[in-house]
Amino acid sequence: MEIKSFKDKQEVAKQFSAYFADLVKGKGSFHVALSGGSTPKIVFEELAREYGDTINWSTIHFYWGDERCVPPEDAESNYKMTVEHLFSKIEVPKENIHRILGEAKPEREAMRYANLLEINLDRVASIPQFDLVILGMGDDGHTASIFPHQIELWDATDHCVVATHPNSGQRRVSINGKVINTAKEVAFLVTGSGKSEKVDEILNKKDGFEQYPASLVNPKTGNLTWFLDEAAASGLV
Ligand code: 6PG
Repeated sequence: MEIKSFKDKQEVAKQFSAYFADLVKGKGSFHVALSGGSTPKIVFEELAREYGDTINWSTIHFYWGDERCVPPEDAESNYKMTVEHLFSKIEVPKENIHRILGEAKPEREAMRYANLLEINLDRVASIPQFDLVILGMGDDGHTASIFPHQIELWDATDHCVVATHPNSGQRRVSINGKVINTAKEVAFLVTGSGKSEKVDEILNKKDGFEQYPASLVNPKTGNLTWFLDEAAASGLV
């Protein structure tokens, strides 16, 4: 595991973008699961601005680690956020974009998406393997859409699960912990002071850290990188 701390969000975006560009270089095909929420916005903007013309986007297939169960035009949609901050700024074939259908019945969509991953990705011990999974972390220690109050979903048999946001009750489709930990590379993008307490508890393995789904991220390949800004890393010193 590697922990990288940078002065601010912009620098995190710059450094992650360089890491991503290096990962995809020369690859015939590359399958990446994107995170949602707000952190990725500045990262996607940087990626498009600095590498929009140099990365061969036609070799990259985009998936999501989780999606809110809302239509694609809804302000809550991770797909909509990604179109606004990335896809609208780069030349990516639409057949390379594999969105979770937020408008579909959640249980049915979780099954459909799990089957799609089985078809599109290589499998290791029958688990679909992404080349890269990008994750965020909530200030409650959730990641993807596996929340502490439903931590049992981490070990679900199905590759994709239906989760419920603890406060809003919003339903979500999420990949499970086995898919996350089978990825060749996992990158956490965590910024802001609101995350610092959980970052400290998890990375310093403080009492009770195992209750946070983000603490369970431990890819079999060992290739886990935390991209933090100083605000999120402030508890580590
Ligand atoms: C989502 C995400 C979720 C997110 C964290 C952090 O759909 O919301 O995938 O896991 O990464 O909640 O969100 P912020 O970047 O908005 O802090």
